[in-house]
Amino acid sequence: MNITIQVNGKEHTHDVEPRMLLVDFLRDLCGLTGTHMGCDTSQCGCCTVLLNNNAVKSCTHLAVQANGHEVLTIEGLGAKGLHAVQKAFTQCHALQCGFCTSGMIMSSVDLLAKNPNPTDAQIAEGLSGNICRCTGYLNIVQAVRVAADAINSGAAV
Ligand code: FES
Ligand code: FES
Repeated sequence: MNITIQVNGKEHTHDVEPRMLLVDFLRDLCGLTGTHMGCDTSQCGCCTVLLNNNAVKSCTHLAVQANGHEVLTIEGLGAKGLHAVQKAFTQCHALQCGFCTSGMIMSSVDLLAKNPNPTDAQIAEGLSGNICRCTGYLNIVQAVRVAADAINSGAAV
């Protein structure tokens, strides 16, 4: 099938097998390797991207399902300078090996768009589909809180 997906504001048109996963489209055809592939079974969340402004696990979406739609990856999020969530993850040391980080950040962006002032419990719930093998959860929750404060105070770019 010939499909076109708007990825990070740019149209990407490719011939794909109907079974191609969105994560493979992004990594292999668009060269956007910031979206990671971990479990491949919708459990770890490291493949999370925004599809029409909603966080989805790109290992459980077919590329054809995104045909004609908009996808934002970690590369697009930081294209015009680091997003407040990216800055907060750096500031709070919310990453160790970094494998989960792009997915954590994309899920956090989605969480804060829908709930700009979440409690710690709501942050934990919002990120419950993302696993950090390095167990950096305390700093990750703190980073989301710091990002929320920055956005709400107008300090974020
Ligand atoms: S690779 Fe998609 S959820 Fe783990
Ligand atoms: S920082 Fe290593 S998996 Fe989360």
